[in-house]
This record gives sequence, C-alpha cells and structure tokens, in this order.
Amino acid sequence: MSTSASSVFRLSRRLDGVGFSDIVKIRNKVMELRAGGARVFQFEGGEPFLETPGPIKEAMARALAENRTRYAPSSGIPELRHAIASKLRERNRTPAREEDVVVMNGGMQGLFAAFQTVVDPGDEVLVFSPFWTPIRDLIAHCEGRTVLVRSTEARREGIYETLARHATERTRAVYFNTPQNPSGFTFTREEAEEAARFARERDLVVIADEAYEDLVYEGEHVSIASLEGMFERTITCYTLSKSYAMTGWRMGYAVAAEPWMTGLKKCLLYTTNGVSTPSQWAALAAFALPDDFYEGIRRAYRERRDLLVSGLCELGLACDPPAGAFYAFPDVTRVHKESRAAADILLERAQVATVPGVVFGEHGEGHLRFSFSTSPETIQAGLDSLRRNL
Ligand SMILES: Cc1ncc(COP(=O)(O)O)c(C=O)c1O
Repeated sequence: MSTSASSVFRLSRRLDGVGFSDIVKIRNKVMELRAGGARVFQFEGGEPFLETPGPIKEAMARALAENRTRYAPSSGIPELRHAIASKLRERNRTPAREEDVVVMNGGMQGLFAAFQTVVDPGDEVLVFSPFWTPIRDLIAHCEGRTVLVRSTEARREGIYETLARHATERTRAVYFNTPQNPSGFTFTREEAEEAARFARERDLVVIADEAYEDLVYEGEHVSIASLEGMFERTITCYTLSKSYAMTGWRMGYAVAAEPWMTGLKKCLLYTTNGVSTPSQWAALAAFALPDDFYEGIRRAYRERRDLLVSGLCELGLACDPPAGAFYAFPDVTRVHKESRAAADILLERAQVATVPGVVFGEHGEGHLRFSFSTSPETIQAGLDSLRRNL
C-alpha cells in the first residue's frame, strides 16, 4: 500500500489548521538573489541589529566555566525568577511574586503555553489586527477560533465598543499585544484601561504579549496586568529576544497567577522540561543592566525609525511614525493593491526585501512591513534604490 493511501501516514487532525510561516518563503527568495550575486537591502527581518550585551555573554562563559550545566527546576532557577519578579514590580508595576514567574524558551513557548492553558476547542479569541502571524496558528493548535479586531478601527471607534461588537458567548480570551508587530501600534493607558474593563465585565482572560516593551518611542508602555483587577486574569508573555538582542538564545518568561500558572508549568514540563541552565544564569545579567542601556537602544531605534519613515513618506508610501517596536508599515497601494505583488516589485526592481502585509492577516493587505532594525547606511541605501527604481 502506498503511504498516501494509508490512513496511518497522516498528521493528527489537531495540526490540520496549523500553518507554516510565510516569512520563511521570503527569506528563501532573498537568499536565492544573494547567491546569484545581487546586493539585497534587507528590511524583512525581525531581529535586533545590536549584539547581545557583553555582560550577558560574560555571564554565559562564567556559567559554563563553573559547570552550571545540570537540570534546573523546570520553572527556572530561583535567582532568575526572583530578579524577574523584581523587574515586573518595578518596571511593569505588576504585583508579581517569584511563584508567578516561569522561565520559558523565548516568547513563543510562553505564548504556546498560554493559549494551551486557556483555550478549549470552539473557544474564540479576540485578536487585534494586523497581528503577528503565529498567533492564529497557536490558537488553531488549541482548535480555537481567531476573531480579528482591527486595531485602527478600535482606536477610532472605541476599544470597548469595538471589542463588544466582535464578542460572542464563545469568546474566552483577548490577545493583547503592545507594541504590536507588524504595525508598531501601541495602546495608550486609556485604551489599555478600556480593554481591561471589557475583559473584567465579560469575565475574559487576557493573553498579553509584551515582546517590544522596551521599544516605545511615543508615550509609555502600559502592562495590562498592572491595571486594577487584571493581574489575576492575565497571562503576560515576555521575551529577552528584542530588548537584549537575544533572538538565538530562546529566552523568555511568562507571568500569571493560579490557575494559569499550573497550566503553564504543565506545558513547559512536557515540552522542554525547562530552559537551558547556563542560559538562565546568563539571562540574570540582563536584569542587572543600568537604565541608560534602555535609553541607548531606544535612541538608536528612534534614529532609524525617523530616517526610514521620512524617506518612505517622500516616496509617497504614506506612513505614520510607529509608536513602538521596530517596524514601519506603510500603505503601498500606489505600487500595487496586493501586498504580495508590491513586495515582489520592490524586490525585483529595487532589491528591497520586505514582508507583504497580508501575511499578518487580511487587515494588513495593501501594506508592507519594513524593519528599521538595521544600519542607517542600509536604510539610506535602500531608500536610494527605491527612489531610482520604483
Ligand atoms: C509580537 C511578538 N511576540 C512574540 C515574539 C516571540 O519572540 P521569541 O520567540 O523570539 O522570543 C515575537 C517575535 O518576533 C513577536 O514579534
């Protein structure tokens, strides 16, 4: 019997609705062009342009030299969980204790565990949109349903009212990402209060994603779990990837009270049984970095943001300066009304690599995501190429 005719050689049905990232396809195209000798101006990435800070790398070397390489408690080494809880109280203003923190392999594992903890088959999750693509797949993996809520519409028409319009009796949770990938949209305190009031009144769980908490250029970063009555109904996922340029380390953490913490711990235990022990000792050094470290990275990203946004606007690719994260998300309908075609045009004519907005859901159509996490020289050269070739 051929494998295709057999009923054995198939994936579990649970994985049917789970997709793979489109961004990988773009990356492959860029690599092909580069292999052919072309210079490609890369704006498609999602990584900090910086290097992991020295003190973190030195702490890793020390951890290895001191043989801190054995199993740690699955939830994380107490020293790191203690440092994270202090950070949460001081910087995020959330009433977290050490036992409310679990160390995770990046933001992704925290989010995976959070959705698994909360969402039953058939449950609906309200997701502000355009949204970071894996979220729909994480919800699909729970056999839940993603319900999109356009962020700009919610801002214009009221966060509470817009969420209410999309809610049903199956609504179980709200995914609250601020600042947002791909648009840089950042909720104000008043908007976060509105979302919180909605969650409290409807008795919903909030899965907060604060991957870009340290990259806010306008206003303040507000952790929804810090608002009244919200800590107990919020699971917040953090990552060291963006703040400390540690994408490859796979280091993050999730914060929640019970019963959520039990769910998070079960997911962690039966997936990776914790996070690499030496990496945890290294991560401890991140929480000892001085305040001016954060001011420094914000200054560097803001300079790049301003350079890219003013260049895009001059080219007629209208774009508000994003309030947070490191992406610009201009309207490119002037190039082509379909963002996949627009991305192809930019890549082929100007060797400028971007991500089509539709990858981030239907509300991203007509836009391209440009990362400004690169050198000012690359930004300038990419803009020059667009000016000459578009
Ligand atoms: C909005 C958002 N959340 C979470 C993550 C997860 O990051 P990581 O798994 O690298 O920690 C990312 C990474 O791009 C992101 O953009």
